[in-house]
This record gives sequence, C-alpha cells and structure tokens, in this order.
Amino acid sequence: MALSDFDLVFFGGSGDLAMRKLLPAMYARDVCNDLPLEARIICVGRDHMSQDAFIAMVESNAKPHVKESVDDQAWRTFLQRITYVALDASDKKGFGPLVEALRDESLTRVYYLATPPSLFARICDNLAANKLVTPNSRVVLEKPLGRDLESAKQINADVGKVFAESQIYRIDHYLGKETVQNLLALRFGNILFEPLWRREWISDVQITIAEKIGVGNRLGYYDNSGALRDMLQNHLLQLLCIVAMEPPASIAPDAVRDAKLQVLRSLKRFTPTTLAQNIVRGQYRSGYVDGQPVPGYRDEPDAPKQSKTETFVAMKAEVDTWRWAGVPFYLRTGKRMADRLAEIVVRFKTIPHSIFNQPTSSFQPNSLVIRLQPDEGLSMNLMAKTPGDSMRLKQAELELDFREQFKAPRMEAYERLLLDVLRGQLTLFMRGDELEAAWEWVEPILEHWEQDDSSPVPYTSGTWGPAASSALIGRDGLQWREEALPED
Ligand code: BG6
Repeated sequence: MALSDFDLVFFGGSGDLAMRKLLPAMYARDVCNDLPLEARIICVGRDHMSQDAFIAMVESNAKPHVKESVDDQAWRTFLQRITYVALDASDKKGFGPLVEALRDESLTRVYYLATPPSLFARICDNLAANKLVTPNSRVVLEKPLGRDLESAKQINADVGKVFAESQIYRIDHYLGKETVQNLLALRFGNILFEPLWRREWISDVQITIAEKIGVGNRLGYYDNSGALRDMLQNHLLQLLCIVAMEPPASIAPDAVRDAKLQVLRSLKRFTPTTLAQNIVRGQYRSGYVDGQPVPGYRDEPDAPKQSKTETFVAMKAEVDTWRWAGVPFYLRTGKRMADRLAEIVVRFKTIPHSIFNQPTSSFQPNSLVIRLQPDEGLSMNLMAKTPGDSMRLKQAELELDFREQFKAPRMEAYERLLLDVLRGQLTLFMRGDELEAAWEWVEPILEHWEQDDSSPVPYTSGTWGPAASSALIGRDGLQWREEALPED
C-alpha cells in the first residue's frame, strides 16, 4: 500500500534511538522508494544547533548504522527530508518552531516520542495546547512504558487525554521482527499445526532471548529496571502471547490484540511461594565472552557495588486455559550469555508406544524451533530411519532458512513498524489494556523482590546463566535446548 504524504516528528530526534535505529530505518525505506516524494522528517531536540550542525550529526551518528551500503545520491535526497527543530518539549510556549515546521493538517502526522516516559504527558498536553493534534495524527510511544502497573496506567491515562486509543502506537520492537510475524503465518496459514497446538500434544514451550552484550552505557536506566522489566514484561510476554493465543478471526488489530489480552489475563498468578520455586534471577559476574574478558555487572562504570538488579531471569509460567492447562512455558532472558540467541521451542509429547526394536524412551520428542536471532529460520525435529539394513531411528532435522527460501531483502523491525504507523496499521502494536495486563501479572514478582533481602544469583559472563536456571527446568525432567544438543 502506497503511503500518503506525511510529517513524521521524532521527539528525542538527536538521541541515541533516532540515530541508531529510526533514521537508518527511514533511509532504508526511502531508498526502496516507499516514501512519498514530499514526505518530511522533523527531528526535535533540546539542543540549539543549526540545521547544518544537525545534518553533520546525522552523517556521523546515523549513517554508520545504515544496514547496507549507502547510495550517495539517495542519502543526499534523504537528508533533504530532514528538518531539525530545537525546543524544550516541556515548555508549552516553546512549540512555535514546530508549529512552523509542520505542514497542512490534512497530511498524516506522526509524533514519535523517543524520549524518557516522564516527558510523555507534557509533550502530549503541549501538542494539544498548540492545536497540533489533528484527526490524522498518531502518537508512537517507546519503551519503557512504565516501571509498574501504576506508572503504566498513568502513561495510558496521560496520553489518552489527548489521543484516542486508535491513534496510539505502543512499540514492542520484537513484534516487528520477521520471524515473529512468521509465527503467525505458521500457526494460521497451515492446517498442520493448529490441531496439535494444545495440551494434549504439546509437552512444553521454551522461549529464550539471550544476549552477549552487557549493560553497556545504559546503566542509569538499566539499574532501575532489570531484566524482568526490560525484556520479560514486554518482549518475552509478547512472544508467549503469539504462541499461546487462540486463533483470532482475522489479522485486524483488535482481533489479534483481544486474543493476546486473553492470554495475559489467563497467566497463572504467582504467590510468594510459587514465585520462589519458579523464578530464578541472576546477575553477571566477570568472565569471557567470545574469548574477551568482560567485567561483572557491579564492576561496570557507575554501577552500585551492592546492586541487586537482575541481568538474567528464568521462569516457569503457566497459561490457565483449557488449551494450555499444565503445559509449562519456560521463559528466559539474560545479558552476557554464551551466545546471542532468540528462539521459541515447542516440544511435543513422546510417542505412546514403540513398534520398533528400541524403547519409547529412545525416541526424541518432535520439536519445532522458531529462530528469531541470529538467523531467521524454523526447524522441525523428526525421528527418521538411519540408512542401512536395520530399523534404527534417529532424530533428523527439517530446516527452513527464511533467507535462503525468500531471497527478498530483509526489513529491520523498526522499518516495518514505522511503515505500519505511517499506514495506520495497529496490529503489531500493543493496546493499552494489554500493557496493563502484562504489568499486572509481573507486579507481584517485582513487589516480592523489593521486599526480599536476597540478591540475584551470580553467574559467570559467557555462560547460559546460573545453575539454578538449569535446575528449574531440570526439576521437570527437562533441559534447556542448548543443554540437550549433542556436543559438536
Ligand atoms: C531492548 C532492551 O528492548 O531490547 C535492551 O531494552 C535489549 O536491553 C534489546 O538489548 C534487545 O533487542 P534485540 O532486537 O537486539 O534482541
């Protein structure tokens, strides 16, 4: 669908996200001719700087993040779309330069708030006070969308005073990843899986997002957040929703979002006892990643020496519905782990009886592995006969590499999500009630940790997290996927 002309305003327009992700994503769509000729990008920042100085900043800070080689001509055209506007977003009277930069109100207007959430309310109020919110306006909210239920509700209420829910785009960049959308295609574009997608046939689901990077230069934010807020409450729960949701009637935003909301509301609540048994939190200590020594979390620059912030969390969650009762969903995320990996593993039950000369226990259960990172693919593990004159069965892999299969150029998550905002497609964005339901579920965990004197369990950088994480899943007679893989 061709886009109609728009003014796209990035608040936080000189910030890290704009430079690393948003501007490179817009360039990538521009070079593919997705943007209308006249479309404009207005970058709003606090610092007074000339247009030339800002463009120089884009050259040095955004250009290196363009995913493929830059076409000089296309880059120059792209830069011409950009206008820098300096203003203090918290000052209602200071919005004059933005009023001037915006064009006709009949155009699509997108206000992308890549700012700390503490500014959301004031920016929205100030946009309204300056009569900049037109029926064709949309607002995009970047994480962190709250740090608990109350603050998330406050954000919803503040933004909701100015924008209708149908104008609000809450970003979870994991929903923009190709493979996540492919999971929808897999489940609802094939007849094969849906009849088996339930407790009768599935034994357990593992969802892992592991990173090699540490906290980097984000300590100020991260130390007040931790892995539960930073990754689990949003990305991991969204992945869980897409795995577990009932088939929506269509891909329409509310059909999908209603189905996801149902999952969030059906997650079994933790009590202090079940929580202690089913959740492991960890914090990285020094170690080696890719052969390089790396410091521990508490030794990172400016880190509080006694910090109790978790950089790893693993848990066993359950979805209390007829479809999923009793099926464990193991969720895990951590920084400074052995590898960069994001994957969903759906394991089926074992066969009920062996007709072959080998015991049922020698049959690996079928499993479906949906890989989001580092490469995008899907593999299905099946039992097959080994060649030869005896009837020996062994696990074999059916592999679908999306890059190999579809030679079409890839779209980064932010490219897809920005295009969807500009097209007015809300399916891949969280609705306000989803956000609140996710916080409502994690809140007892946060409260418990706050009152708890104990600290996260240490784990060595470059490993798969604390031993307690293996023990958590091991208690059920299972292993994390990488632990179960044969040694190379
Ligand atoms: C962000 C978190 O939302 O996701 C970061 O704030 C994390 O801490 C990042 O590193 C991971 O995203 P991706 O796409 O690199 O897996």
